Amino acid sequence: MIRSGLRRRSLLRAGLGAGAATAGAGTMASAQPDPGAGRGHARVKLGCAVQRRYLDEAEYRAAITSHFDMVVTEDALKWERLRPNPRDFDFADSDVIVNFARSAGLAIRGHALVYHGQVPAWLDKVDNRRDAEDDMRRAIATTVGRYRGVIGSWDVVNEFTDDRPEVGSGLRPTVWERLIGPDYIAIALREAAAADPAAQLVLSDYFLEYRGRHYDDRRSVMLRVVRDLVRRGVPLHAVGMQGHLYGDRVVDGPAVSRFVAELKSLGLDVVVTELDIVDQAYPADPDIRDRLAAQQAFELLDAVTEGGGAHSILAWGVTDRYSWTSWHMRRQDGLPTRPLALDAAYRPKPLMRVLQHFRRRTVPPILPERGTRP
Ligand code: XIL
Repeated sequence: MIRSGLRRRSLLRAGLGAGAATAGAGTMASAQPDPGAGRGHARVKLGCAVQRRYLDEAEYRAAITSHFDMVVTEDALKWERLRPNPRDFDFADSDVIVNFARSAGLAIRGHALVYHGQVPAWLDKVDNRRDAEDDMRRAIATTVGRYRGVIGSWDVVNEFTDDRPEVGSGLRPTVWERLIGPDYIAIALREAAAADPAAQLVLSDYFLEYRGRHYDDRRSVMLRVVRDLVRRGVPLHAVGMQGHLYGDRVVDGPAVSRFVAELKSLGLDVVVTELDIVDQAYPADPDIRDRLAAQQAFELLDAVTEGGGAHSILAWGVTDRYSWTSWHMRRQDGLPTRPLALDAAYRPKPLMRVLQHFRRRTVPPILPERGTRP
């Protein structure tokens, strides 16, 4: 289904029309006055997911440093890569990403400490609570400890909401949920806070953006979980909305704004952790596709802003040349996907204009002791 009208503010009114969309974006970010300066407001950081294997390419590195403030490890810290066996850790890929970011002066997010996706086969053999908890704690302590003071923000538990959020606790029955119980989330957060008390700790999930009962249920599970954690004083600083935007689904602006406002009222920040456009349902024409992608991202980011804003927005990749959608989310017509803000030749697309628009904004400070951190 293709939508042509904007339900909320339009791209054009925001000064993001097609003509403006092709200009280089990196320099525009600093040209605007900062309306929140001096009142504790912070500038929005714009980031991108990075793969170690492309960092050998100068064009890839230059694209990152000219358009973004932050990087996130896309696959390097997932256990399939990080943990060849139950004892050892292989930080070779993440070290390359971290060293690149440090030398370029970019902030760094780590993804993801506890995640059921891309896990090694040996994890299947863990079959009791004690081993599961010891192993999870050791992995968190080792990983966060290694990058203490360097990786400023972590996805601590990723995608904990079940695909049937309306049933039972709404938690996904991962190995940790089954063996440790629902408290594995609090245990993971406490372990991460002990390893680096200054790091921003984030719980992130997908499908928190759309209109419909299923998505309302997913937002409810997230709110239920984080309210409980906040009430118990568990260290948690932000909720991540992944923002994989599917062309056949509708962003629920008012629901997103309410969700963000509710999180802010709990003293939590919001991070858009994995923004990209899954364009399978969009028409073939690349210009139309790019316009629809920019529009959909604008709808999400505008709704987030209305609810109080996200201090960081991360795109799930740098260039259309390299995106997970090209192998996981193929188009039926076989055309290359166009999910990101730079095309396959690293030219900025309308989506870049949208991202830079939100990067120029400032976000008000968050309530008490929890808050934003990096
Ligand atoms: C994706 C990576 O981008 C791919 O390289 C990998 O093959 C599969 O995982 N939600 C997440 C991310 O939290 O970790 C996923 O990343 C995309 C969906």
